[in-house]
Amino acid sequence: MVKAGKLGLIMLGVAGVALACAIRYAWQPSIEPLLAPAPTGADTALVAHGEQVAEVGDCMYCHTANREKPFAGGMPLDTPFGVIYSTNITPDPDTGIGRWPLDAFTRALREGVSRDGHLLYPAFPYPHFTKMSDSDIAALYAYLMSVAPVSAPAHPNDLRFPLNFRPLVAGWNLLYLKTGELQPPDRSESPAWLRGRYLVEGAAHCASCHTPMNALGAEKNGEAFAGNLIDSWNAPPLNALTRAPKPWTHTQLVDYLRTGLASEHGAAAGPMLPVTQHLGNAPESDVEAIATYLMSLQPPPAPAQPASSREKASRTDDASAQSIRGGTLFASSCAGCHASEAPMREIGGSPALGLSSVLTSDSPRDAIHLVLQGNPWNGSATAHYMPPFADVLDDDQVDDLLAYLRTQYAQRPVWKDVSRTTAAIRKEIPQP
Ligand code: HEC
Ligand code: HEC
Ligand code: HEC
Repeated sequence: MVKAGKLGLIMLGVAGVALACAIRYAWQPSIEPLLAPAPTGADTALVAHGEQVAEVGDCMYCHTANREKPFAGGMPLDTPFGVIYSTNITPDPDTGIGRWPLDAFTRALREGVSRDGHLLYPAFPYPHFTKMSDSDIAALYAYLMSVAPVSAPAHPNDLRFPLNFRPLVAGWNLLYLKTGELQPPDRSESPAWLRGRYLVEGAAHCASCHTPMNALGAEKNGEAFAGNLIDSWNAPPLNALTRAPKPWTHTQLVDYLRTGLASEHGAAAGPMLPVTQHLGNAPESDVEAIATYLMSLQPPPAPAQPASSREKASRTDDASAQSIRGGTLFASSCAGCHASEAPMREIGGSPALGLSSVLTSDSPRDAIHLVLQGNPWNGSATAHYMPPFADVLDDDQVDDLLAYLRTQYAQRPVWKDVSRTTAAIRKEIPQP
């Protein structure tokens, strides 16, 4: 989270610029509603294609607060500027988009402007959706018009001043929004690469979680896919996958993205879990293409570098007492599933903890989240389930456990400040 004071100052500066622009850009014309609700589901092939675009774009995840009412909105998105609620995109004529003509829908995705002309907040990833093709947008529209209408008025947002003043988004758009379809690169590339780039940069909006953000919540220039903090989870860099202890391969990436599990890297948890669940429903060739594009962003693998013996010695000294306590906790709470002889390893093909990016990362956040919240799994493979330990372990015990896992499994120096970070994360996680 950005410190509120600093943020306030920056915001005021931007407010000045934005107000100037506001006069020119902040009020967009309203697009007349359709007199009768848009026709639904006539072209079944178009609807089916739209559904697949929606899976890649994760539309349902953000636009569903109640599983029984898909796309009816109301899902809170926690941003550094306050809480924004997604809106109803079912074809309900009064509270949803049932009377939106296609050009209003296209303008929302390309420019972040609602049908009545108000500006939308970039928590809605229109800076990526703008890159989609007209035909994909039309298919999405046809699909959404075919889902069950739900009456659900928009939930008011809870944003801090001055961000609760929507016209300010005009300033943000002027600074950061590049509208329009993704342009082809100036070199020749394979069809799979081109398709992967189109999906990653557009509908799949991977960078919105995996790229560091500036103080105004825009992706930092020149740092694409370098990793980011999102919903208090650490979304790891996607431009160093070949620098993992076991470098990722194309096949492992496809497995991970389609099933949420890569045998030599770990399971998708937190905000990544729904992404993999939706990609599991997308065409396999699209996931293959995403992997092709991502693999092309990787640096060559680093030559293996044994840790210097001095570093090794100081690690064990620092951690020994703590790591012995952690080892005892591990034996009682975790080894039943995670020890090398544990049955789960055979059932689920669970990765060795030492290879898990969660433990080799520079940040302890995802490991803390996993230990506190466990890993829910709604699919059929029960073997992926990990129970939550928030009520079982206190902050110092989590610290001891992770010290043990870092030194004994990941062979890395212990993380600093784990107790304090654990206490902070406890306050951020949803209460059961
Ligand atoms: C990361 C979460 C997120 C994802 C993913 C997402 N949306 Fe949204 N969307 C939002 C939020 C939040 C808003 C409301 C923004 C506001 O009120 O300023 C919104 C608003 C909209 C609106 C404008 C509705 C209105 O009444 O003005 C449309 C249309 C829309 N989304 C369509 C989509 C489609 C189609 C997809 C998938 C391709 C999608 N969204 C994916 C979060 C998301
Ligand atoms: C809503 C935010 C979000 C979006 C969108 C998202 N990711 Fe992630 N991703 C995460 C988080 C958080 C993690 C860490 C999860 C964990 O620890 O299990 C992660 C983990 C990963 C990993 C594992 C990396 C490693 O080193 O273990 C890969 C690969 C990945 N994401 C690829 C993608 C791709 C490709 C896309 C776009 C199709 C994408 N992500 C979209 C949040 C996101
Ligand atoms: C009931 C079985 C079970 C227990 C008990 C359990 N885990 Fe897990 N754990 C899992 C599963 C399943 C996964 C996710 C998928 C996988 O790794 O196969 C997982 C994943 C993890 C990961 C991340 C590895 C990855 O997938 O990237 C860590 C770290 C972890 N567990 C630590 C612990 C710790 C520490 C404890 C004890 C406090 C513990 N687990 C107890 C089943 C369990």
